[in-house]
Amino acid sequence: MKRHITLGEFIIENQKDFPYAKGELSALLSSIRLAGKMVNQEINKAGLANIIGAVGLENVQGEDQQKLDVLANDMFISTLKNRGEICGIASEEMEDFISFNESIHSDAKYVVLIDPLDGSSNIDVNVSVGTIFSIYRRVSPIGTPATLEDFLQPGNKQVAAGYLIYGTSTMLVFSTGNGVNGFTFDPGIGSFFLSHPHMRVKEGGKIYSINEGNYVHMPEGVKRYLKWCQELDPATNRPLTSRYIGSLVADFHRNLLKGGIYIYPQGTTAPKGKLRLLYECNPMALLIEQAGGKASDGKNRILDIDPSELHERVPFFCGSTEMVEMAEDFIAKFG
Ligand code: AHG
Ligand code: MN
Ligand code: MN
Repeated sequence: MKRHITLGEFIIENQKDFPYAKGELSALLSSIRLAGKMVNQEINKAGLANIIGAVGLENVQGEDQQKLDVLANDMFISTLKNRGEICGIASEEMEDFISFNESIHSDAKYVVLIDPLDGSSNIDVNVSVGTIFSIYRRVSPIGTPATLEDFLQPGNKQVAAGYLIYGTSTMLVFSTGNGVNGFTFDPGIGSFFLSHPHMRVKEGGKIYSINEGNYVHMPEGVKRYLKWCQELDPATNRPLTSRYIGSLVADFHRNLLKGGIYIYPQGTTAPKGKLRLLYECNPMALLIEQAGGKASDGKNRILDIDPSELHERVPFFCGSTEMVEMAEDFIAKFG
């Protein structure tokens, strides 16, 4: 019987194609795998909050129950810190980045940016959430503290990026710039197995994903594009189908598999949109491009944006190439 290969085996087999410090990137991906398993375990218990104690209350050991996004943040930080492959980390949950300066970090060549729990408002209603990560090679000298410049690099400099989705099954999907591969967690064995090799975003997708409640605030080009999606035209497969979960990871994952476009535009209340460039849009942009799709801010390639701050926001149009280009055409015409 031929069995599927594990994530660990895949990393060893493929590290010859990894850019730069191959062994260290392999070890870093293994650390992310470990942290992901730990977060997965906590998320699976979330529904038991009423039994084991709700957030903010003390548990039986007299410890405060932490919010899951803080807990996920702590788990990723401590796991990545303990392994010594990165010199610093930035996260949605922290105002500033952290520099790791112990002796095990003195050779560290990478920095990581994370959204430790994406879609956290969906936890209480038993809907899929995720973790998003982005990895860069540091630009400051090895052996010195990490600097802001290490984190403020354009997405086209990412060495690797990916996400974990904690859904009906838990998956790790990532790219090191050489295609996208998806691994599904087998909880009985405790390993991720390669289930989705060489992922490609389906062209001719029918799904558009956007929070339409924000319609009045949207730019004219996006409003017109949405109306185009809803028009009857059998020749172009319209009307399209609307699907929106409210967890970027889950919306992205579905559209990657089925073909579609995800949009979080700028609006009158959010002039640069809602999503964060460095740990939400850039990693997803790398993945979608590596899967044959496209990601833009409505005009420009996401991966070419020069970031100026850690928590910078950006409008996000991401998915099947022809769908993103159609949305861009409407924006070019109507603004
Ligand atoms: P987070 O839970 O990390 O703060 O991210 C929430 C994000 C993203 O996951 C999702 O696509 C978007 O917010 C949904 O926003 P709306 O509720 O405004 O649609
Ligand atoms: Mn998020
Ligand atoms: Mn988050």
